[in-house]
Amino acid sequence: MNTNNIPVITIDGPSASGKGTIAQLVAHQLGFHYLDSGALYRLVALKTMQLKADMQNSGQLAEIARNLNVIFKDEQIYLDDKIVTDDIRTEQCGIAASQLAAYPQVRAALTERQRAFRQLPGLVTDGRDMGSVIFPDADLKIYLTASAEVRAQRRHKQLIEKGMSANITDLLQDIQKRDERDSNRSIAPLQQEADAKLLETTSLTITQAQDAVLSWYNDIFAKTRV
Ligand code: CDP
Repeated sequence: MNTNNIPVITIDGPSASGKGTIAQLVAHQLGFHYLDSGALYRLVALKTMQLKADMQNSGQLAEIARNLNVIFKDEQIYLDDKIVTDDIRTEQCGIAASQLAAYPQVRAALTERQRAFRQLPGLVTDGRDMGSVIFPDADLKIYLTASAEVRAQRRHKQLIEKGMSANITDLLQDIQKRDERDSNRSIAPLQQEADAKLLETTSLTITQAQDAVLSWYNDIFAKTRV
């Protein structure tokens, strides 16, 4: 089946910007599927740590990415049939994910797996390169960001709500390091593409950000129907 006509909304942006929250809400409102591409990189990181594999061995990391036995079901993530929904959210996993995401072989090993989420009636996805590399023909591309300080607060709240310990100063440092690594890598760097709309959410509520995405999407939808 040619899936190229199936609508896709991509939301890319830096760490802890809230893109996952907004993407999920928009997907829910439109009745679309949702892909958290960062979760795939975090899953590769978790599996790598479980296997105590070498974080410098790109061939082995790509092999792990290719063979990842993962199921997304009912808001839970299963790795080798075990629920790992919260295990992948630790800062340790996020940092390792960002390190291995810099290897082209790892990214290539995850490409088709991500594209397979493009199914009717549509897809909302978030990450770093969803609009630039994975779904370059997306109907709506958004670059969602916020100041590093506000992102550290958002991540802090998210971790505390999950019952994990967190410290704002450390989180801010992690976020700044991760921004630098994700933006400066040579493959699929984090950046606002020319055809992506900027959504700066430092002083926006979740509902305001969600409404902005939906209103852009509705504009596009209205135009394609006239
Ligand atoms: O939650 P947070 O925004 O901090 O990160 P994430 O979206 O869960 O992604 C974890 C790491 O995976 C990021 O720091 C990126 O380096 C990498 N990633 C990527 O390279 N490409 C994507 N499409 C998604 C995530």
